Amino acid sequence: MSYPITLAVTNNKGGTGKTTTSLNLGAALARRGFKVLLIDLDSQCNLGLAAGCRQAPHHIGQLLLGEATWEQTLVKGETVDLLPSSRTLLSYEHQLNMEPDSGYLLREQLEGRSYDYVVIDCPPSLGALTFGALGAASWFVVPMQGENFAYVGLDEILQCVAKVRRRLNPDIQLAGILMNKFDLRTKFGQTVYGKLTSNNTIRLFKHSIRQDVSLMECTAFGQSVFDYAPSSRGAQDFDGVCEEFLQLTTATATRS
Ligand SMILES: Nc1ncnc2c1ncn2[C@@H]1O[C@H](COP(=O)(O)OP(=O)(O)OP(=O)(O)O)[C@@H](O)[C@H]1O
Ligand SMILES: [Mg+2]
Repeated sequence: MSYPITLAVTNNKGGTGKTTTSLNLGAALARRGFKVLLIDLDSQCNLGLAAGCRQAPHHIGQLLLGEATWEQTLVKGETVDLLPSSRTLLSYEHQLNMEPDSGYLLREQLEGRSYDYVVIDCPPSLGALTFGALGAASWFVVPMQGENFAYVGLDEILQCVAKVRRRLNPDIQLAGILMNKFDLRTKFGQTVYGKLTSNNTIRLFKHSIRQDVSLMECTAFGQSVFDYAPSSRGAQDFDGVCEEFLQLTTATATRS
């Protein structure tokens, strides 16, 4: 059965750019003609709001627990589709914790779906929802900032993926660490950058995301940066990241 190329955007540290990356990398893929599904796995619902979806009758927690169907949950958009979240998603995560096969539920939902790319915005925590996303993903990306404790968070997520690879999903691969708002003038920025570049087991995206107010503003208008400010630095940076991701996934598809 066909399975879409699925990317989990994850970091258990909060505010590193997961939602910004999910929204704009998804949009960059859609602009190239790919059929894209976004999944909002965070009870803050930021991805849904940023994608212009204010209210939805059903959410991903209900879908995973069999309380709603795919058709009832899916919100079809002009450029991308969305499986929305809900403020109540955390109580569903508690229920998922009690399901023996919770790590496979999202994967099962994606099997045979006719999307080219699925982008999953993970919550800033390592619970059942994040494990489900990593269980479903062929790739993961870790947006991170050059600040205190960034490297600790990275270690935690890499250890968590190592566990997922052993027990749940042997095929998951690191697409790259995505440096967001790195300020190499600060000591933290330099230290984190130094550690990342000296570790040759970690793949880093060559493009990084610069600080750009358009990336913040576009979400308030329910738009991607490509619609809101097509010539902004944010749009240029995510275009570059998208090209790198495509090279990676195309090269892998050709190899296998
Ligand atoms: N490169 C950037 N330039 C300017 N603002 C940015 C940039 N990246 C992210 N932001 C802003 O920083 C804030 C946090 O970003 P975002 O919501 O993407 O992080 P997150 O990892 O999804 O957070 P959470 O862990 O709470 O889900 C948002 O207000 C976003 O608009
Ligand atoms: Mg977020």
